[in-house]
Parts: sequence; structure tokens; C-alpha cells
Amino acid sequence: MKRAHVIGTGSYLPEKVLTNFDLEKMVDTSDEWIVERSGIHERRIANEDETTSTLAINAAQKAIEDAKITPEDVDCLIVATNSPDNIFPATAGYVQRALKLPDAMGFDIQAGCTGFVYALQIATSFIEAERYKTVLVIASEALTRITDWQDRTTCVLFGDGSGAMVLRAGDDDSRGVLNSYARITGDKAESLIVPSGGSRMPTTEETARNRMQYVKMNGKDIFKFSIGAIGDATKKVLNKAGISIEDVNWFIPHQANIRIINFAAKTFKIPNDKIVVTLDKYGNTSSASIPIAIDELRRSGKAKEGDLLLLVAFGAGLTYGASLVKL
Ligand code: ACO
Repeated sequence: MKRAHVIGTGSYLPEKVLTNFDLEKMVDTSDEWIVERSGIHERRIANEDETTSTLAINAAQKAIEDAKITPEDVDCLIVATNSPDNIFPATAGYVQRALKLPDAMGFDIQAGCTGFVYALQIATSFIEAERYKTVLVIASEALTRITDWQDRTTCVLFGDGSGAMVLRAGDDDSRGVLNSYARITGDKAESLIVPSGGSRMPTTEETARNRMQYVKMNGKDIFKFSIGAIGDATKKVLNKAGISIEDVNWFIPHQANIRIINFAAKTFKIPNDKIVVTLDKYGNTSSASIPIAIDELRRSGKAKEGDLLLLVAFGAGLTYGASLVKL
């Protein structure tokens, strides 16, 4: 059976930095509160001329270069995002056009912050079924465009960014994406939502006046959900693969909140030097947080070929999932 091997990664963060001290001047908050409750110190904000697709293109170009492939090689393109350029067409179309991929199928997927883990699972299934050979997976978010800058309970958390990965069919079954697990459970779907702009609540002057075009979140619901979700996904993916947590070299959780990450690390007795944290500098970049972390880990030289990564995410939907990837 073919395996989905990781042959390249890339990431892109906008230049503009927004610190907690900058936020103190915008809403009733403090650096102390944000750091204590979330672990976030600063985040990146897309420039006026940047969109989710331009962030995606920047990350993808780096991944393609890293993989030493040409645009002709890519036969499938998957973009995970919760902040697409438009409701339709798919952001993938803008990415395909800019990257000049001549021979690829492409689409967007929306699975909250679990989007990258979902996209990875889809790409892996395509490769293992020998339907596609070289899949470009991107997770990209310009979340600050749908963030309410008057709502201190959400605006301190999110940031913009993009991460990409090139997966290619290979014969060596000891490496690549070894296993994945994912679920959606809609009971608390409204706990994390952009209420207007869809068929449930088309945009009107009134919805705009009530700021319904922005992210609304019940932070406590998501917090509680995330604790159970990380535990379940971690156990399931390790059991399915017959791998023990001690064999994992890098634990790469979705970067939402340091307290959630620390809780998971304590539950599974994961030592600090195996835990990857980027939220202090980038905030919560939603689906992009995991591929950004992977790319930084590889480029810094810390993660080496043969290292085993455990990716775990949760988010709007509510969704959650995990993947085991051997570099
Ligand atoms: N600054 C100062 N005070 C604040 C702020 C702020 N930015 N935000 C809220 N507060 C206040 C609240 O109003 C509340 O005040 P009150 O007690 O007078 O009512 C107090 O701080 C405590 O608020 P809580 O909501 O109880 O704070 P909590 O400790 O739960 O932390 C947080 C909030 C950080 C949002 C946490 O619940 C969390 O991280 N949840 C998970 C969020 C998440 O992971 N989202 C990811 C999915 S994103 C995606 O899929 C796109």
C-alpha cells in the first residue's frame, strides 16, 4: 500500500505584530489577564492587501520549494480555512491560479481549528487509494477579518497565518501519515459561530448593526470540550497505530490556550521538551496553527527525519481529531 510521505513544508506569517499592550489601548483588557488565561503575548495581523488566499500562496510556495517539486506535479490541492476569501468560490481556486497548477483538482474544507488534521486525513486517503500522487495541503486564516475588535472575550485570542505541506505517495510504509482519527459532534455547534452571512441569517443592515458577522464564542464550552476531545483523539490514534505516547518525539497540539495544552501534557505525562508551543507569538491561528508549528520545527532543525509527530486539534463544529506522522 502507498503511504503519504511528507516531502515539504512551508509557512507564512504577516509582518504586522499586535501585542497585548496594543490591545490594552483598544478594549478593556490587560497583558496580565491575556497571558495568564491564554499564554498569548502577541499575534500577527494580515495587511490590508493580504487575504486568506495570499497568505496561503506564500506558505505553499515555500512548501513547493522545500519539496523540490514543480507546480505540474501537484494533482490535488486542499485548502482548510474558516475565513475564506469569499463564501464561494473556493479559496483553492485563487491559490491554484496564483501557483499556476496546471493539472490539479482542488477544494476548500471547513472543519474549525481541526481543518488541517481533517485535510491531512483526506489527502492521505486519496494517496493510499492511489487516486492522487502529490497533494498540497494548506491551512490558512485571516481570522482577524471576522474578529470583533469591540469584543474583549474573543479579539485577544486570534491571529492570522498560514501553513502548508506537500504529501507524496511513497512505498516505504514505516514513515508518512501513519494513522488518523477525527470526529464531529454538533451538539454545541453554536458555541463557536459566525452567526450571519449564511443561509440561516443572511446579512442585513440589522445583522451588521448587531455585529453578527463576527466570531462569537462561548469560551467555557470550548474549553471543556477541548479537554475531553484531546484526550479521546490522543488515545484513539495511538491505540489504532499500536504506538505508545513515549515513542512520540513531538506533541503538536492546536494552539488555542496554554492551559489546555498543559492539561493535556499532564494527563499524558508528556515532558515539556516534546511540546511545541507557538501561541505566545502567533495567538490562535485556527486551522493554520499546527502546520505553522510543524514547519518551524523542521526549519529550525529540531525535528529530524524519522521523528514521530502527534498532531491533535479541536474547534468549531465542534470537531476534533489527531494524526500520527513520521517525518
Ligand atoms: N480581558 C480582561 N477580562 C476579560 C477578558 C479580557 N480579554 N475576557 C473576558 N474577561 C473577563 C470576563 O468578562 C469574566 O469577567 P466576570 O467574571 O466579571 O464575568 C472574567 O474575565 C473571566 O472570564 P472567563 O470567560 O471565565 O475566562 P476563562 O478563564 O474561561 O478564559 C478563555 C477565557 C481564554 C476564552 C478560555 O475560556 C478559553 O481559552 N477557551 C477556549 C477557546 C478556544 O480554544 N477556542 C478555540 C477554537 S477557535 C476556532 O475554531 C476558530
